[in-house]
Amino acid sequence: MFTQFEKTLGSYRALEKLLADGKVRAIGVSNFSVEQLIALLAEVDVVPAVNQVQLHPYFQQKDLQAFHAERGILTQAWSPIGGITFYGRGDEKRSTLSDSVIGAIAAAHAKTPAQVMLRWHLQEGRSAIPKSTKPQRIAENFDVFNFELTADEMAAIDALDTGDGGPGWPDEVLLSFGIVIPGSLSRKHTLTPAQTHAAGSSGDPERTQK
Ligand SMILES: NC(=O)c1ccc[n+]([C@@H]2O[C@H](COP(=O)([O-])OP(=O)(O)OC[C@H]3O[C@@H](n4cnc5c(N)ncnc54)[C@H](OP(=O)(O)O)[C@@H]3O)[C@@H](O)[C@H]2O)c1
Repeated sequence: MFTQFEKTLGSYRALEKLLADGKVRAIGVSNFSVEQLIALLAEVDVVPAVNQVQLHPYFQQKDLQAFHAERGILTQAWSPIGGITFYGRGDEKRSTLSDSVIGAIAAAHAKTPAQVMLRWHLQEGRSAIPKSTKPQRIAENFDVFNFELTADEMAAIDALDTGDGGPGWPDEVLLSFGIVIPGSLSRKHTLTPAQTHAAGSSGDPERTQK
C-alpha cells in the first residue's frame, strides 16, 4: 500500500535511475506547484530539469517561476499561446488570441498575436510548446526569431496576468482523474459527495491505493 506521494517518488526515483544509467539526458516533472516541488526536492537527489506547467499571458504563475529560477528548474509553458483560454472562462470567454493589448503589439511588429506570445516566452527565458494541426501555423509559430519586444511591450503583457488558471483549476484536475495530486495534501482539497461520486473515488485525500 503506497500513498500517492510515495508512488510519485517511486516514479521519480525510476527516472533518476534512467538518468544515472545514461538512458535519458534529463528528467523533469509537469504541473508541480511550489509546495509539490518542495516535497519532491526534500526526498530526491536530482533536481528536475524542467517543470511543464500551464503558462500564458492570462495565467503566469509568477511565484512558481521565481521558485524555478531559484532552484535552476526550466519553466516550460503548456498552452503557451493560451489555447486553454479559447474554450471560454465562465461568462467572460476572453481569449488571449483576441486580446487588444497583444493585438496592438502584434500590429506594431507586423506579427501575429501567437508570435508575440511565443516571443514573450522566449525573451523571459521559458521553453514554450505551442500545438497546431496546421502546417502554416506550425511554421508561423517557429518564425519568432527575427523581432524583439521592447521592455514596455513585455511589461504590458506581464500586466495581463489574471492569476486564474481557468474554471476549477486545479480542483478540476483532481476531479477529472479522481485522485489527489501528490504533494497537494497541504492544500486540503476535499471533494463534495457529488464530486466524489463523479470521480469514482473515496474522496479521502489521505487514502492509500494498492
Ligand atoms: N502537461 C500538461 O498537463 C499539458 C496540458 C495541456 C496541454 N499540454 C501540451 O501543451 C501543448 C500545447 O498546449 P495547448 O494545445 O493546450 O495550447 P496552445 O498551444 O496554447 O494552443 C493550441 C490552440 O491554438 C491554435 N493555434 C496554434 N497555433 C496558432 C496560431 N499561430 N494562430 C492561431 N491559432 C493557433 C490551435 O489550433 P490548430 O491546431 O487548429 O492550429 C489550438 O486550438 C500540447 O502539445 C499539449 O500536449 C500539456
